[in-house]
Amino acid sequence: MSFPKTRLRRLRYNPILRDLVSETSVSVNDLIYPIFICEGENIKNEISSMPGQFQLSVDNAVELCKTAVSKGVKSILLFGIPAEKDEHGHVACSDNSIVQRAIKAIKKECLDILLIADVCNCEYTTHGHCGTIIDGDVDNDSTLETLAAQSVSLAKAGADIIAPSDMMDGRVASIRTALDNAGFEKTPILSYAVKYSSAFYGPFRDAADSAPTFGDRKTYQMNPANTDEAIREAEQDVWEGADMLMVKPALSYLDVIYRVKQNFDLPLVAYNVSGEYAMVKATAANNWIDEQRMIMEIMTSIKRAGADIIITYHALEVADILNKK
Ligand code: PBG
Repeated sequence: MSFPKTRLRRLRYNPILRDLVSETSVSVNDLIYPIFICEGENIKNEISSMPGQFQLSVDNAVELCKTAVSKGVKSILLFGIPAEKDEHGHVACSDNSIVQRAIKAIKKECLDILLIADVCNCEYTTHGHCGTIIDGDVDNDSTLETLAAQSVSLAKAGADIIAPSDMMDGRVASIRTALDNAGFEKTPILSYAVKYSSAFYGPFRDAADSAPTFGDRKTYQMNPANTDEAIREAEQDVWEGADMLMVKPALSYLDVIYRVKQNFDLPLVAYNVSGEYAMVKATAANNWIDEQRMIMEIMTSIKRAGADIIITYHALEVADILNKK
């Protein structure tokens, strides 16, 4: 049947009907909100390249978590900015490290919350790389040991999910074994399985003070040109015991999200990263776009591509938009 019998606009005139036939929806249940925790008390430093996002001391992080939960955003991803760093990132393995303390404080005050701990060394090493340096590059197998120790310590502090973002080979298996040996066989692993070496992480590295002091991350993070390799990365992590997979960044990688979702039936998370957030904020500050519409279009497109869950700095704004509807 063709025009004039078929008129695709028929389903577009009535707003209720448009909602009824909508194929993709975004809910507050789909969102994870990332926050940055620093030392000190009553600290709330705005991150200049991420307007509206802050480095927060533990007390203020607790308050922000309460606000997030009150809006319906119940899943929080935690990043730490420690006072001291060392060559291997050992500081992150201490039960008294910044994120461990934040987890305990948040859990004490907010019961109805899910805390996801990012596991990586880059915020904790003096050189800003994601692991131990041997011969001028990150050594894979010795890094697995610090990642596993960091994971166990975070689980002990009360982390509900462990999320390794380092891109070492074999880290899911090694973290799984360490968690199980320490009695945390019920703690899921959300693997940053498909993580590209991306310019879109720029603002995050300001926020987390984690830019490498030499070189780049190309020997461990993926080449943006590849998607067959994304399948191999995901496959490997599934074999090693990942419970959930992630593709990161999101917007320039919607094809990768689609492909990973077609190939694996694990819950798929997409990370709408700092540079994607910064682009929206910069254009909105110039009044060049309708910010709220743009945010919702971005969320919808990430879900439409196949993501089940979105990590986004816009989470609280999205909740406000959805709660207003
Ligand atoms: C740590 C890590 C990074 C991000 C999340 N975890 C930075 C990096 O790999 O350099 C980026 C998040 C963002 O840009 O929002 N390895």
